[in-house]
Amino acid sequence: SFDNRVKLIEVGPRDGLQNEKKTIPLETKIELIQRLAKTGLPVIEAGSFVSPKWVPQMASSSEIMTHILSKGIPSEQPLTYSFLAPNTKGFDVAKAILDQHSDSFLPFPPPSQKSTPAKPTIEIAVFAAATESFSKANLNCSIAESLERFAPVISSAKAANLRVRAYISCVLGCPFEGTSVSPHVVADLSVSLLEAGADEISLGDTTGMGTAPKTRDLLECLRSAGLRNEDIAMHFHDTYGQALVNTLVSLEAGGRKFDSSVGGLGGCPYSPGATGNVSTEDVVYFLESLGMRTGVDLEALAEIGEWISEEVGRPNASSVGRAVLGA
Ligand code: HMG
Ligand code: MG
Repeated sequence: SFDNRVKLIEVGPRDGLQNEKKTIPLETKIELIQRLAKTGLPVIEAGSFVSPKWVPQMASSSEIMTHILSKGIPSEQPLTYSFLAPNTKGFDVAKAILDQHSDSFLPFPPPSQKSTPAKPTIEIAVFAAATESFSKANLNCSIAESLERFAPVISSAKAANLRVRAYISCVLGCPFEGTSVSPHVVADLSVSLLEAGADEISLGDTTGMGTAPKTRDLLECLRSAGLRNEDIAMHFHDTYGQALVNTLVSLEAGGRKFDSSVGGLGGCPYSPGATGNVSTEDVVYFLESLGMRTGVDLEALAEIGEWISEEVGRPNASSVGRAVLGA
């Protein structure tokens, strides 16, 4: 039977904020996570243990993780909090915090929970790229070197009962190499990362260059390589306005997990016109129009999108958010 439930992964607090030049106060980031946790979202990407020289905005990730675990964040539904870690250096910082609060989160996979409020589960996300130029620009190493660095991160995270997500950037286009990214490279990388122990692959259309036919071809190639629908999440940036079309193509191929960002937060200050992730409000509205269920409160999301856009000094990038609020 047709499965009409869709899992949304909210990446606004990380992907949406990481490129902001002006330091966003820690309290604002925590308030964003607290508000998102009340909307019914099952996964919130909350931070990133990367070099503060590379991404200064994510330097507060230790404080964010500590807050989530020591103070707790009220929510009705079980929540997973996700944090990026590109190497053992980043993972060790996360692990030290997790060890101090080992009673405050559930192992993954979580035991069946009867009592609410539930404790969260924690996810660690590594991030590879489908092109050598992007790997070099984002991680300062080749694709093969990045896999070598991820292997101990993935195995240590699994040994610590954490969920592991592995991103692949530039699956449908690259800012340096254009649109000719091979789906076979993406498929091989996906298989390697799953074999290394990742629980899920998130396929990043980093530049938003993906089109409907290319998305279809990519997903067919992944299926031929043995990937299952539950192995895959789609991560669309909406720079060319194709994210919802590509979402529909992914749904038709059986995809049921999508990354998005409240208010469509994000955008690179160095490339004019580049935009953030597809907005969570737009994705929820679109999925509901197809009769699918996300469990997410659209009105509440729209208010958060408007609020956080104001906080970061950007126009609300969600069409649905603006429409719902009559703005
Ligand atoms: P590097 O310069 O080659 O690193 O960068 P290194 O190992 O030579 O170390 C240099 C310095 O960084 C040292 O400090 C290290 O200690 C420190 P120093 O001795 O100079 O004071 N360092 C760290 N500090 C904190 N946390 C760490 C860490 N590692 C080293 N984890 C490195 C290599 C991977 C660190 C760097 O390239 C980096 O941080 N890259 C992250 C870039 C990033 O965060 N990008 C955004 C996330 S990915 C994304 O947005 C795409 C996605 O959304 C999907 C899509 O849309 O495509 C996921
Ligand atoms: Mg992204």
